[in-house]
Amino acid sequence: MPSNHQDVYQDIHAKLRSYSEVYKFFTNLEQRGDVKRYCNGSNIAGRWFFQIFNREFVEELAQVINRALGRRRKNPPVLEAMSGDGRLTEFLQPLIKRRCIATDSKDGRYNIGYPKWVEKLDAMEAISKYSPAFIIICWEPYLSTTGIDIVKLGTPTAWIGNPRMCGHTDIFEHPYIPLQSKYALSRHDYFLAKEFKSDIFFFNCKPEWI
Ligand SMILES: C[S@@+](CC[C@H](N)C(=O)[O-])C[C@H]1O[C@@H](n2cnc3c(N)ncnc32)[C@H](O)[C@@H]1O
Repeated sequence: MPSNHQDVYQDIHAKLRSYSEVYKFFTNLEQRGDVKRYCNGSNIAGRWFFQIFNREFVEELAQVINRALGRRRKNPPVLEAMSGDGRLTEFLQPLIKRRCIATDSKDGRYNIGYPKWVEKLDAMEAISKYSPAFIIICWEPYLSTTGIDIVKLGTPTAWIGNPRMCGHTDIFEHPYIPLQSKYALSRHDYFLAKEFKSDIFFFNCKPEWI
């Protein structure tokens, strides 16, 4: 449990930590009333993020992606479009048999510190460029319909977020399978009350992959 100021603002995404460690950390932040500020860059790494990652969550996502990819080890890659700082892609890559690419339009609407290795590309352009075997979208902007355009392509896709807080609810008119993850954590959660708002929704995926 964080004890001093520096521990409270440590970079929780510096490495992939266990669910229990991450959950405890955010429970402590919530008691201080600091969750939103922390997720808006008030942390020693200046990270600005929506989904909060932990080992169990990343492993369960990786498992579905690997099943979708099947046995072939070569191209095409996995693409995280709208990746923000690309941390999910970095956490996933060691667990995935294919190259994982992170892209984002980096259009200046968010205070995200995008690393140079996250390629500046609109989501649909990124899909045209890389023809990915699997697509990940994490917290697309509220009312964005890009997720719908992506799902219509028929490529296996993981949509991470909250149906009422990001993207467009019409996306759920397409068939989907919710993971109902026990490990999904986000900036909008109430950690003490155990009210969790996000999940992974799989589109164009076979039930046996999940
Ligand atoms: C709410 S942030 C989420 C960032 C990150 N995935 C997370 O969970 O913290 C949305 C991100 O999507 C990017 N974005 C929005 N529309 C996009 C588009 N059409 N193509 C590519 N990136 C886009 C924004 O630049 C921003 O980085």
